[in-house]
Amino acid sequence: MAYPMNQKFTAFSSIFALVLIFLFQVPHSSGQFSSSIIPDSNFTTLHSPVNGNITIRFKSPPAGTCTTAFQTQKQYTGYVSLPPFTLAPIQQNYSINTFFWFIEARTESSTAPLTIYINGGPGSSSMVGLFQENGPCQVVEIAQDKLGTKPNDWGWDRSTNILYVDQPNQVGFSYDTPTNGSMNLFTSITTEPPSDVPSGQPDYTYLNGTFSSNSGNSTANTTEIAAHAVWHMLQGFLGAFPQYNPGRYSNSSKPGAVGVNLFAESYGGKYGPAFATLWEQQNLLRKNGSIPSNKTLEIRLSSLGIMQGCVDDLVQGRFYPIFANNNTYGIQALSLTDQQAVASSFLSANGCQQLIESCRNAVTAQDPQNEGDVASVNQICANAQNTCNNEVFGPYYSSGRDVYDITQNMPDPFPPSTYLEYLNNADVQAAIGVAVNYTQTNAAVANAFLQTGDYERGDYIGEMAHLLSLGVRIALVYGDRDYICNWFGGEAVSFSIAAQAAGYSPFYTAGYADIVVNTTYIGGAVRQYGNLSFSRIYDAGHLIPAYQPETAFTVFTRIIMGNDISLGEAADLSTYTSNGTANATETRKAPEQLDPTCWVRNIENTCTNDQKVMLQQGQGVIVNGELYDEASDWKPPPSSVSVMAGYPGTYPTSTTTTGPAPTEKGSSPSTTSAVLTGVFTATSTPSPTPSKGAASSDKAVNAGWALLGCMLAMGGACVT
Ligand SMILES: *[C@@H]1O[C@H](CO)[C@@H](O)[C@H](O)[C@H]1NC(C)=O
Ligand SMILES: *[C@@H]1O[C@H](CO)[C@@H](O)[C@H](O)[C@H]1NC(C)=O
Ligand SMILES: *[C@@H]1O[C@H](CO)[C@@H](O)[C@H](O)[C@H]1NC(C)=O
Ligand SMILES: *[C@@H]1O[C@H](CO)[C@@H](O)[C@H](O)[C@H]1NC(C)=O
Ligand SMILES: *[C@@H]1O[C@H](CO)[C@@H](O)[C@H](O)[C@H]1NC(C)=O
Ligand SMILES: *[C@@H]1O[C@H](CO)[C@@H](O)[C@H](O)[C@H]1NC(C)=O
Ligand SMILES: *[C@@H]1O[C@H](CO)[C@@H](O)[C@H](O)[C@H]1NC(C)=O
Ligand SMILES: *[C@@H]1O[C@H](CO)[C@@H](O)[C@H](O)[C@H]1NC(C)=O
Ligand SMILES: *[C@@H]1O[C@H](CO)[C@@H](O)[C@H](O)[C@H]1NC(C)=O
Ligand SMILES: *[C@@H]1O[C@H](CO)[C@@H](O)[C@H](O)[C@H]1NC(C)=O
Ligand SMILES: *[C@@H]1O[C@H](CO)[C@@H](O)[C@H](O)[C@H]1NC(C)=O
Ligand SMILES: *[C@@H]1O[C@H](CO)[C@@H](O)[C@H](O)[C@H]1NC(C)=O
Repeated sequence: MAYPMNQKFTAFSSIFALVLIFLFQVPHSSGQFSSSIIPDSNFTTLHSPVNGNITIRFKSPPAGTCTTAFQTQKQYTGYVSLPPFTLAPIQQNYSINTFFWFIEARTESSTAPLTIYINGGPGSSSMVGLFQENGPCQVVEIAQDKLGTKPNDWGWDRSTNILYVDQPNQVGFSYDTPTNGSMNLFTSITTEPPSDVPSGQPDYTYLNGTFSSNSGNSTANTTEIAAHAVWHMLQGFLGAFPQYNPGRYSNSSKPGAVGVNLFAESYGGKYGPAFATLWEQQNLLRKNGSIPSNKTLEIRLSSLGIMQGCVDDLVQGRFYPIFANNNTYGIQALSLTDQQAVASSFLSANGCQQLIESCRNAVTAQDPQNEGDVASVNQICANAQNTCNNEVFGPYYSSGRDVYDITQNMPDPFPPSTYLEYLNNADVQAAIGVAVNYTQTNAAVANAFLQTGDYERGDYIGEMAHLLSLGVRIALVYGDRDYICNWFGGEAVSFSIAAQAAGYSPFYTAGYADIVVNTTYIGGAVRQYGNLSFSRIYDAGHLIPAYQPETAFTVFTRIIMGNDISLGEAADLSTYTSNGTANATETRKAPEQLDPTCWVRNIENTCTNDQKVMLQQGQGVIVNGELYDEASDWKPPPSSVSVMAGYPGTYPTSTTTTGPAPTEKGSSPSTTSAVLTGVFTATSTPSPTPSKGAASSDKAVNAGWALLGCMLAMGGACVT
């Protein structure tokens, strides 16, 4: 497989010297690999009403595979399969098999809203969302060499039916053609066909498996092409599961239950508005008879949530140097010289801003459908993307700080990568019926998007203003520790949307109100007018729900219920205006640096150089995918955790959170018991004012810094 090299690798050659050794090592033999992934006979297969050649096949994973708070919650995993040429006139000469994982809400699932959750990248799996952010379960250790899952108190299944989709094609568990190969864990590079372990490298760092083809020609290479496959995927899903289509109970007076909600993260700042726009277009075509309304389903969108979105560099670009040095943590990541150089480079002739404008002009003139098939347009846009990467986002890397959390240095172990090991376990794969091994990031997909310069093409601000005019709620949610799609830029996006949406000028004068999360905690600040809101979440990095699970859930639920986000009360959003200060000025204290934790399936992002050397020399002990100096360093999990953990086919004996609450070292542990349903509505603002910078410290034992490997590899923004 060709692998893109770039300037950034050279800049980091000292850090990644070890990796480069393996990059250039050519596997010396190849042979037959017999897959250990057993085809599952427990599938149900149905045909899509839209096109009988499209199939949806799915199964119910055995209890305990992803342990939910209540055993009554149904789950389905499976694929919607599009044969070649389904997306014509788009040149799609490959099969698309889109993986999904659906989980019912904890309560009242027959009338609950439906939420679709999509991670970014491009190339990042939505299993990141499920297992590291807001899914119903979390992977935990049960015993030595045994992982399982326990319920996530603040999983979004608490208030919604939820569907996680791996897209575009080849991402995560999605695939075109299952292909046997070997993966070098030092580089995450897959070589097809499989080959012997390179000499001098321990066996456990070079694994056989089954993957997608990893050909950049067999996936979407623009957001717009991806949107078409997802529309078909949803037609297939809603056709097979009409009981979860909220359109069915559109007369219900239940808040939030009349349409679907789309929440998209990071690169989802592009996916979200593009997918939503296509759904609205298809709805119109159904209405005017251009596509048959008796064979297609309306997808009625209630809310579009953009989590930590990189929406538009024309708006967000100038905030990179500002955020790097003038953030709310008192951190200065760039030298003043670099900061000024970045700021002026953004605006200079042939700088990021100008090149984006050239790209968009070329797209409008020559590739308005964004099919990525006009070489000159691809070149102009890829050039814009590379320039923005190298001159605007890039200089931050030399600070050694995590792009996903400015308070932490690399490697940042939060959130934990334990789930990578779980999803590559044969029992788990059989339970969910997947055809390929799990990978968190697909480099071929990231590279395909880079070839068309997709990152700089779209004008999603205008699309979101249009969605507002159609009555769709637009909610922007940003953690305040993320650099790569930082909240300063996100706030600017909110103003740009308001500027383009008729009737939204009062958004400018709406103030920032406290986000009251419970009786003792203020989790952020929100500006909300009508159907538009911008929330800054305190003490959260890129994967917001991993850092602030309770705040993220509470904000999410208030959004989909159409309530005010500050207190959670019912509100008439046609007139609602938040009140408060003009700026969200709260400052927070940076948490301590976390101790590195090295996961063998995420070496590049989580292991120190010393740990890489240990792995290379076969030293240390690996337990449940994590590297330890010695066997005695591994400690069995507390029984309070393992008692709550299930495993495919085995539901745990208890699912209520009981166990020692996080306490200071030495003090006696207290026991907490969590309520697993409901969302908080405030009647007053907590007093006294909350302590600063404390809320995330109990997460400090965890760790991950998921996808900079992708950014480095691609020479640019690969934003989860
Ligand atoms: C991987 O497959 C290759 C080719 O069949 C084989 O030579 C090699 O031994 C396998 N590696 C492992 C670790 O099984
Ligand atoms: C389904 O596939 C068959 C065989 O390839 C083809 O003739 C037919 O046109 C396809 N139907 C649709 C609706 O695309
Ligand atoms: C699909 O088209 C690409 C060019 O766009 C070509 O390189 C590739 O061989 C084709 N694949 C198949 C299976 O026809
Ligand atoms: C992908 O398509 C390009 C352009 O048609 C072609 O040059 C290349 O060989 C194709 N790659 C693969 C792996 O099919
Ligand atoms: C769908 O509508 C078309 C056009 O009105 C009609 O010809 C066709 O029979 C209908 N199909 C079904 C399954 O009702
Ligand atoms: C940093 O931001 C504050 C307020 O947000 C502003 O008053 C100050 O001028 C800024 N400092 C620099 C160096 O940009
Ligand atoms: C992007 O994908 C489209 C549709 O498959 C294809 O026609 C186009 O050639 C691709 N562009 C590049 C640069 O590979
Ligand atoms: C693929 O999955 C199998 C279990 O089915 C596992 O043993 C193997 O290590 C995995 N390979 C990779 C590269 O993840
Ligand atoms: C297949 O279905 C049977 C009967 O319902 C069940 O016992 C078994 O666990 C299922 N296997 C998998 C891998 O889902
Ligand atoms: C309030 O929320 C914070 C942050 O999620 C949490 O640490 C705290 O335990 C909660 N307090 C109560 C009383 O629920
Ligand atoms: C904000 O202030 C305006 C004007 O005083 C008032 O009409 C509105 O009700 C207030 N909004 C809230 C949520 O208190
Ligand atoms: C504070 O808010 C006002 C009004 O929204 C805005 O114009 C100004 O730029 C903000 N100041 C800072 C430092 O962000």
